Amino acid sequence: MKMKSVAIDGPAGAGKSTIARELASQLGYIYVDTGALYRAIGLFVLSRGADVKNENAIKGLLLGLKVEIRFVDTEQRVYLNDEDVTSKIRTEAVSMAASAVSALPAVRAFLLETQREIARNNNVIMDGRDIATVVLPEADVKIFLTASPEERARRRYEELIAKGVSADYEAVLSDLKERDYNDSHREIAPLKPAEGSILVDTTGNELEESVEILKGIVREKL
Ligand code: DC
Repeated sequence: MKMKSVAIDGPAGAGKSTIARELASQLGYIYVDTGALYRAIGLFVLSRGADVKNENAIKGLLLGLKVEIRFVDTEQRVYLNDEDVTSKIRTEAVSMAASAVSALPAVRAFLLETQREIARNNNVIMDGRDIATVVLPEADVKIFLTASPEERARRRYEELIAKGVSADYEAVLSDLKERDYNDSHREIAPLKPAEGSILVDTTGNELEESVEILKGIVREKL
C-alpha cells in the first residue's frame, strides 16, 4: 500500500516543526524533522575538529558514520553511531555547522535514502528545506511555510528566553539571516518553493491560526 506524505519546507523559525508535529498527531502520521539529520552531521564534524566547508575531509568522515532516525512512541530520536544525540544537536553552534555541511553534495547524497526510506514505510509529515523539491517530489501535499525574518527571530529569541538560555535578539536575527542566505543560495537543493507547493506566510499569526490553515490545506488535499 502506498503511504501518504505531506512535505513542509521553509526557512528556520517559520513554525514548521511545531505545526507539523501537531498535524502529525492529529492525522496519526509520523513527524519527521529532517534538519536533525544535518544537525547530527554538523555535530559530528565539529566534534572531530574538521572544517565544516571541507568536502573532502567530510567525505572521509562520512565513510564510517551511521546516522539514524528512530521513533520512540512516535517521537523522533536521532542517533549518531548508536549514540542518542537528540538533545546535543540543538545548540546555535550546531545550527550554523548544519547549515554549512548541508551545502555539500556528499552530505546531501549521504542522507537522501534515509529520508526516502522513512516515507516509503510510514505515512509522514516531513519538514526540511528540499522535501517537496528533491526528497519527495511526489508528496501528496506540498507546503512552503514562511514568515518575516524579524518575526522568526523574535519567536526563536522568546523560545530561548523561555528555556532560560540567555540570548541577544540582534545576534539571533543576524544568525538567522545568515542561515537563510546559505540555505537558499547553495547550488544543490536550495531552499525554494516546489512547483505545485502552497505558500503559507505565518507572519502575525498565532500558532493556532497557522495550525488551522495547514489543517485545512491537508484535509482538502488528502
Ligand atoms: O530545520 P533545521 O533548522 O533544524 O535545519 C538545520 C540546517 O539543515 C538548515 O540550516 C539547513 C539544513 N537542512 C537542509 O539543508 N535540508 C533539509 N531538508 C533540512 C535541513
